[in-house]
Amino acid sequence: MSHTSTQVGAEHFQYLAQRTAGDDAFLVQLKAAAIQAGIPAIQVAPEQISLLAILLRLISAEQVVEVGTLAGYSAIGMARALPADARLLTIEYSPKHAEFAATWVAKSDVAQVVEVVQGSGQNILPTLPDDSIDAVFLDADKAGYPAYLREAMRFVRPGGLIMADNAFAFGQLFDEKPTDPEVGAVRAFNDFIPTIEGLKAVIVPIGDGLWVGVKE
Ligand code: SAH
Ligand code: DHB
Ligand code: MG
Repeated sequence: MSHTSTQVGAEHFQYLAQRTAGDDAFLVQLKAAAIQAGIPAIQVAPEQISLLAILLRLISAEQVVEVGTLAGYSAIGMARALPADARLLTIEYSPKHAEFAATWVAKSDVAQVVEVVQGSGQNILPTLPDDSIDAVFLDADKAGYPAYLREAMRFVRPGGLIMADNAFAFGQLFDEKPTDPEVGAVRAFNDFIPTIEGLKAVIVPIGDGLWVGVKE
């Protein structure tokens, strides 16, 4: 091999997590309240928020879309990287999750930026105009990712970002008998991405694996 790759393990993840911004008091409260409300703790990792925020800043993003709001953690984290007149639309299928997130977004410092919409990615993404969005973050039903990606290649502007969570399939990517029913869908998506013309993408191994792509 002409290149060097360090085998990244749990130690490295812990090491880098300790060297990136953690959650502030508000996000700590939000996560605790979400658990109290019976919402699963499946948010992205804080170091993923750091990377998403850096990337959004680099492209001066002002129009951002997320699929899969959950409690609003990643939406608020990303919105904090945007200017005050920006807009982050986050789509959530579960009415319970959408209502919880809307309540917490309203209490947050980015209430003017984030709009929580209750609905499915399948129904809402097709309503977005061509080339109108600077960045999209996919973090919802994994079986929906291929359709979301096709839509994203239409509504994201040239030079915009397409990002997707869980490339490592909840840690079960290489399991022979995975217990999570979405592992197959993640594997299929991981194999689908490299076939998309006009998208340059790479899996960044933070959190549960983050696809980062730029639309050419
Ligand atoms: N991005 C969040 C975590 C999202 S978890 C964070 O890091 O803070 C995945 C969410 O996707 C769940 O809340 C689930 O209800 C939602 N979801 C599942 N199917 C969906 C669909 N078809 N459209 C939109 N959201 C969906
Ligand atoms: C699950 C979904 C996610 O998006 C995630 O980051 C972790 C877990 C899940 O459905 O179990
Ligand atoms: Mg995820």
